This record gives sequence, C-alpha cells and structure tokens, in this order.
Amino acid sequence: MAPIDPHSFTESTHPLTTHISLSLYFDFSSSTIHAAAILTLASPHAGPLSLDTRSLTIHQVLDPQTLTPLPFTLSPTDDPIKGRHLIVTLSDHSSVLIVFSTSPSSSALQWLSPPQTFNKLHPFVYTQCQAIHARSVFPCQDTPAARVRYKALINIPRQLSAVMAARHEDRRPPVAGETKAFGSSCFDFDYESLWCADGRVVEEFEMNQPVPPYLFAFAVGELGFREVGPRTRVYAESVPSILDAAAREFAGTEEMIRQGERLFGDYDWERFDLLVLPPSFPYGGMENPRMVFLTPTVIKGDASGAQVVAHELAHSWTGNLITNKNNEHFWLNEGFTTYAERRIVEVVQGEDRAVLNIGIGWRGLNEEMERFKDNLECTKLKTNQEGLDPDDVYSQVPYEKGFQFLWRIERQIGRPAFDEFIKKYIATFKFKSIDTETFLNFLKENVPGIEKQIDLELWTEGTGIPPDAYEPVSSLYSKIVSLANEFKLGKIPKEDEVADWQGQEWELYLENLPKSAEASQVLALDERYRLSESKDYEVKVAFLQLAISSSCKDYYGEVEKTLKEVGRMKYLRPLYIALVQGAGKDEEKILAKRVFAEARDSYHPIAQGVVESIFAKHGV
Ligand code: BES
Ligand code: ZN
Repeated sequence: MAPIDPHSFTESTHPLTTHISLSLYFDFSSSTIHAAAILTLASPHAGPLSLDTRSLTIHQVLDPQTLTPLPFTLSPTDDPIKGRHLIVTLSDHSSVLIVFSTSPSSSALQWLSPPQTFNKLHPFVYTQCQAIHARSVFPCQDTPAARVRYKALINIPRQLSAVMAARHEDRRPPVAGETKAFGSSCFDFDYESLWCADGRVVEEFEMNQPVPPYLFAFAVGELGFREVGPRTRVYAESVPSILDAAAREFAGTEEMIRQGERLFGDYDWERFDLLVLPPSFPYGGMENPRMVFLTPTVIKGDASGAQVVAHELAHSWTGNLITNKNNEHFWLNEGFTTYAERRIVEVVQGEDRAVLNIGIGWRGLNEEMERFKDNLECTKLKTNQEGLDPDDVYSQVPYEKGFQFLWRIERQIGRPAFDEFIKKYIATFKFKSIDTETFLNFLKENVPGIEKQIDLELWTEGTGIPPDAYEPVSSLYSKIVSLANEFKLGKIPKEDEVADWQGQEWELYLENLPKSAEASQVLALDERYRLSESKDYEVKVAFLQLAISSSCKDYYGEVEKTLKEVGRMKYLRPLYIALVQGAGKDEEKILAKRVFAEARDSYHPIAQGVVESIFAKHGV
C-alpha cells in the first residue's frame, strides 16, 4: 500500500474512480451544500477504500444499489495539508454512495452575500478546485492521477442560474422522488421537501470526457452572457457594462482557438466559454474545461486580457488533455502551457509581444531563484512536495523554467521538428495523466540522441537555471532594462521614450528597478506618470510594491484600497510580503494586520490561507 500522490490519501492498490454522479442542494442562507455523490470505480473492490475530504460532514455511506449502509470511518483530525481521510469499507462493490454536507469554510468555495456582488440583489458562489480543493466540495480520490466523468444535478433558487465546466443539459423544476437514489433519507431534515420547495430549479450538467478532479467547477449567481464567437460566450454577473466590456475584450477568442488547433491539433472540448468572476477570484485565470474562469482585472482594453485567455485556452491541450500525474510534475501543465500560450500570442499579437513576454518571464524566473535561494528544492522542475502545501509552493518556476526547457529543445531541433513532436506528444497522451519520466522517455524515443545534446537530467532534476537557458533578445526589452538601470542614477524616463508603452512595458520597467529607492524619486516618477492610479493592476501593484519597499508612506492609503478591492493572489502576495518582510517594519506590519482583518471576509478561502501563511512566516 503506497500513496500515489503526496497530496492525497489515494492508495495505489485501490481502483480509481471513473465516474461521479452528484446531487447538490445549495443553501445560501447557511453557505452550505447538502449533497450526495455516487462514485463508480474502475473495478469492484473489497476492503477499505481511501478517499480525500476536507471540511465535509459525512452523514452516511451506502450501497447505491440497495441503499443499505456501509461501514466508514473519518479520521478524527485534519492532516494540515491533505485534510481528512475517509475510509469506506466495501465488499466487492464497484460503486459507493456518500451522503454529506459541505461547510461554510470549504476551501474551494467562495460564498458572496448579496452586498458583496455588483448588483447587490442576489448571492453568488463559485469553486476553485486546483490544486487540492475538490475534496472540500465532495469526497473523492483528489489526485490528478484519477480521471473522472461526471453528472451533476444542481438545485438552486429560481432567480439564479448555474454554469459548470461541463455540458449544460437542462434547466427544469425539481422532480419528486429524484433524490431517493441519492440517499435523501439520511439527512436529519426532510431533504426531499427542501429539494422540491417552491421557487427552486434544477440545472443538469454532464461531463463525458474524463477529467482530473481539480478541473471540477461551477458558479451560481445572477448570471448573464454575450455571444463572442461560434463556440464562445462570455458569462459574468448580469451587469450590462461588465458583459459588454468583456465581450469587447475577448472578441478575438475564436481566432486564438483556430491558431491553437493549427499548432496543437483539434480542440476537443466542443465549447470554449469564458466566465468573468467577481474581483475576489484568487487567480488570473483557471482552465476549467469548456468554461475558463477569469478575474475581472484582465478586462482593461489592451492586449493582456487576450494573453490570459491564450494561456487558459492552451491548457485545453496541455494540462486538460495531458495532465500532470501529481503536483510534483506541475511543470508538465504550466511549462507546456506557457510555451503554447506564447506560440499563440506570437501569431495573434506579433513576435515583439511574444518576445517581451519571454523577457518578463525570464525576469520573473531570476527573481524566483533569489526568493528560493535557501530552498533550492523549489527551483527544480520536478520537485519533491512531500509535506508541502501546493498553495504555499506556487511559483513562476514551473511556468518559466518549464518554458525555457521546451524552448531549449525547440532551439536544438528546430521549430518544424518541435512542432511535429508536440502534436505527436498530445495525440499520444491525450486524456492521460503522466509524469516527467514519461515525457522524457517519449522525447528520447522521438528525438534520438537528444540526451547527448541537452542535459535532460540537469534541466528536470537540477536546481537553479541551467547555463543553456536563454535570455531573449529584443530591442524593446533591452531599451526598457537600460532605462530602468538609469533610474539608479536618478533619471526618470522622458515622455517621448515611453509614449507608446502599454501596461506590460511599464511592468517590465518597474520590475527592473532596484528593490528600493529614494522616496523622493519614487514620488517624482509617479508625479510624472501616475502609475499609482493606473487602471492596470499589474502596473499599479508593481509600483506600490516599490513604494512600500522604499518606505514611501504617501501610498499606504492606495495600498490599503487595492488590498480591499481585489482578491487575486498575484496582487495580494507581493503587497502583503512587501509590507511584512524585513526589519523595522512595525508600522507596516500593523497596517497589514489591520487591512487583512478588515478584508479577510471578502477573500476566497485559498487567498485567506495564503496571506495567513505569509504572516506566519514573517512572525506577524
Ligand atoms: N492553472 C493555473 C492557475 C492555478 C495554478 C490555480 C495552481 C491553482 C493552482 C492557471 O492556468 C494560471 O496559470 N493562471 C495564471 C495566468 C497566466 C499565467 C496568464 C494566473 O492566474 O496568474
Ligand atoms: Zn496555467
């Protein structure tokens, strides 16, 4: 008996789940889902079966055929990373029914009360399951080694609608008796009459392609949509101005899908819809299949929104078709996707933009090396994550070192050969979950002699940046870096030098400035270019980070405002870290603590956890 994933209780000797059937009753008044799940296994199983759960109350475990109870135990305490181990005992069963409820603190779920939404009339709830939060929505073998098809019945108030990363089958009234097969009598209240109460509707979904549990996703709220392409709608809270802006921002999506298909093979997921979430969404984007989830901060009317879409779209091939077996091989998802994203961007936005992105990534990779100088394990592509929480070790390394590795192979064998290789790789492993060794073996088989030309072991197992990684050459990039270097000599760029800069140019400029500067010079830069007021959060946050590390207190009000209006961790992390890191930061630490206490409720639980671990690490 051995675990197959350091982040899951799943046992290698147990059959994996192949199908899950869910019935979910949403109780917004208590931020709880009362639910049941029927898990079907790849083969009949006798004896204990290990499942992952977190913050779930298990009411009963049953044989789905006979509805007779089956023995189960739930570990009495939480593993700090994996959650609670649920063991159900089967006797040659190939399926099991679990009746359960989520809790308001379920880590995948953010429940927004009406005042926390834009229209302020209705509540909103959505999931973020990657990396290991699906287990807080339903019990499962929460490892990407498992691939499941699923069905879901979602019971919600009639004023709301539901979307899922799955095919929408129906919206209809509840049917009396339909919850029986889901063990409705196991609740200590009358589930059936809640299910069928006036004013409730059922939305049915089906996902008939096998996906890892982290790609399970839904959102429920007062949703609207706009058509933006033949297979794309953009959904958001039903606010005309948001929907219109989103539709404009993502008008080029179909063109990107076509380019993706040309490069990587058919788009296999039928629809590519987009869902714009409230500002508290903790990521830029999440590649939920058929329906990508996005932060509203990407809607700003320049090229960068399309870039996030290009990235999440690229996951349709790399990540969703081919999936990392566990988080230790996360680079197979994100490194490949970063490479694929840049290939799409290169076609639709031009080579200059793509090279600039590589430059920004290169810079980020070098910063991560500095951040992890006392924790070299995190600088490897393939990492040992035993005892580590994926949300804590999240970094640019799998993205940018992974990108560099693939780019290195492309340089070695030439683009046409590499393009062919990638297409074959995707066709070979689609709908499979694989590890780094599988990739390397496939590479060596298909590119004979590659191991003599590139030190594959150094790239995948070694620490730091290999000597044959490559800093991109771009005149725009070099110009920006040299302007940033001149800042040290007291120079601020002239208007004509920055006349056609977009957000990304400013971002790169700010990131290349010294970590801290004279407060007066920071003020002078902002007086000229109003970076602290930028609508582009990338620019604003990069500037505010510089302001904090330069102890430029004039901006602390703006820092507070920013931390209270967005919950994207890409912005929360650097701002909170800048506030609490280093000696003699008493005032900043007090500020960080107060702002977090006031803003905590508006953050997604994953973001709450990440800020708390930043505080713990810095003794706040
Ligand atoms: N899959 C990731 C988001 C993620 C990673 C969620 C790990 C949970 C755990 C997504 O594809 C991603 O990388 N998003 C980026 C966008 C980007 C690189 C353009 C983000 O959110 O910043
Ligand atoms: Zn990604």
